[in-house]
Order: sequence, then structure tokens, then C-alpha cells
Amino acid sequence: MKIGVIGAGFIARAVAQLALAAGHEVMLSNSRGPHTMSSVVSGIPGVQVGSAEDAARFGDVVLVAIPFEHYRSVPAQWLEGKTVLDSNNYYPDRDGHWPALDRFETTTSRLLAEHFSQSHVVKVFNAIFASDLTQDARPHGAADRRALPVAADDAAAKAQVIQLLDGLGFDAVDAGGLDESWRFERAKPAYCVPLDKAGLKAALAAAERTVQLPPAARPHVKP
Ligand SMILES: NC(=O)c1ccc[n+]([C@@H]2O[C@H](COP(=O)([O-])OP(=O)(O)OC[C@H]3O[C@@H](n4cnc5c(N)ncnc54)[C@H](OP(=O)(O)O)[C@@H]3O)[C@@H](O)[C@H]2O)c1
Repeated sequence: MKIGVIGAGFIARAVAQLALAAGHEVMLSNSRGPHTMSSVVSGIPGVQVGSAEDAARFGDVVLVAIPFEHYRSVPAQWLEGKTVLDSNNYYPDRDGHWPALDRFETTTSRLLAEHFSQSHVVKVFNAIFASDLTQDARPHGAADRRALPVAADDAAAKAQVIQLLDGLGFDAVDAGGLDESWRFERAKPAYCVPLDKAGLKAALAAAERTVQLPPAARPHVKP
């Protein structure tokens, strides 16, 4: 699979390492252009770099892994017809306040899907620390394999991403459509907690729409 990535930060680089190890082709991009990415190229053997538009056009699937507040800076037409992986989280201190999110009226992935309206958005990779992506990946069937939540409205895109995750080293739990993805947004019980499939299903079920847990209330959360 060809995986284009809008972003070259922590999540982008971690997904790139896993995907390259699994035999995929990956192109990363950033906001400043590929001439600023020599350290990315030398740090991740085999990775390709390009402009954000290059990466969008390159990918069979395209991961959008930039600070949430900037998602509308990515032109929607670049991603028409594609599966778009949404790893984004809303942090008001970083992203500014988004009233509809503050009022729990929508989800980050629904907002992306409204912008990328001709794409199939899949929420994935948002509920794991980038450093854990490379550390916790395990072969299919490993006893200590971690599960990650996935949400999407399009069944085929969701299945495609669940298969991709399996190849990268993770089980998946289907958390429903994009309007259910709040269950694994920031400060929910499943957010960035290492869990197997059963544990993740329980954590998703325990989430409450308007309740945001402090880190201390989420067991196993790393500092
Ligand atoms: N870090 C984690 O552990 C983690 C875990 C789960 C989810 N997330 C979420 O995933 C998203 C990315 O997080 P991150 O930690 O990987 O971010 P990061 O390390 O801060 O990197 C952000 C990247 O996005 C690029 N970028 C920003 N605007 C862009 C644009 N318009 N076009 C192309 N590239 C653009 C930046 O490039 P420039 O430097 O050129 O601006 C940079 O390469 C965030 O929403 C975050 O909340 C992060």
C-alpha cells in the first residue's frame, strides 16, 4: 500500500516506521517543504518526502497527522475519493477553543469528515502515544498484543484500516461510526491506555459523553 502522510511529526514518523517495516511505501510531508526534512529522511531509512500535496496524491490512504487546528489548511480536493486516516486530537491549549467540541456537540473526526466530504475518514492512531506505536507493536496472535480503537462511517474504509493495523502490529476494536468516536477522544477511559481487545471494549463502553477524566483517573497512563 502507498501511504501518504500530511505531517512529519511524532505520529507521522512512528506510523511511517511501522508501515515501512510492514512493506508499505510511505511519503511524509510538512508545512515547510521537503527541503526541510533531511533529518526525517536520514532517521527513517526508505521513507520518501514531498510537499503536502505530493503526499496527498501519493497515498492510496492518507494520514492527516497535524495539529488539529490546521486541518482545514489541507485542501479537500487533494484527498477526494481516498481513505483519510485521522489521528487528530483536540487540545484547547494548543488548538484554541472550538465551541462545538467544548459543548460535546460533535467530534474531531466528524469535523474532518465535513471538510474532507468526498473522502472516507477513519479515526485511528489518536488514542496511543507515538512512542508506544513503535514499542507496543506485536505480531498477529501475540498474547500481549494491544488493541486500538477505530471509527468510520464507511464500512469498506474501516475494514481496510483494520487490515492495515493488523499488519502494523495491532488488533482493532470497531468503535462504530464517526459520531461515536468521542468514546476514544482525549480524556476518555480508552485514551492512550494500553489495553487488549476485551479491555478496550470495556473502556469504550465506560466512556461518558460529557465526562473528561484527569490523567490520574486513567490507570496505566504514562506520565
Ligand atoms: N504525539 C503523540 O503522541 C500523539 C498521539 C496521538 C495523536 N496525536 C495527534 O496527532 C496530531 C499530530 O501530532 P504530532 O504529535 O505528530 O504533531 P507534531 O509532532 O507537532 O507534528 C506536526 C506536524 O504537522 C506538520 N504540519 C502542520 N501543519 C501542516 C500543514 N498545513 N500541512 C502539512 N504539514 C503540516 C508540521 O510541519 P511543520 O513543522 O513544517 O509545521 C509537523 O511536521 C495532533 O492532532 C495530535 O494531537 C499525537
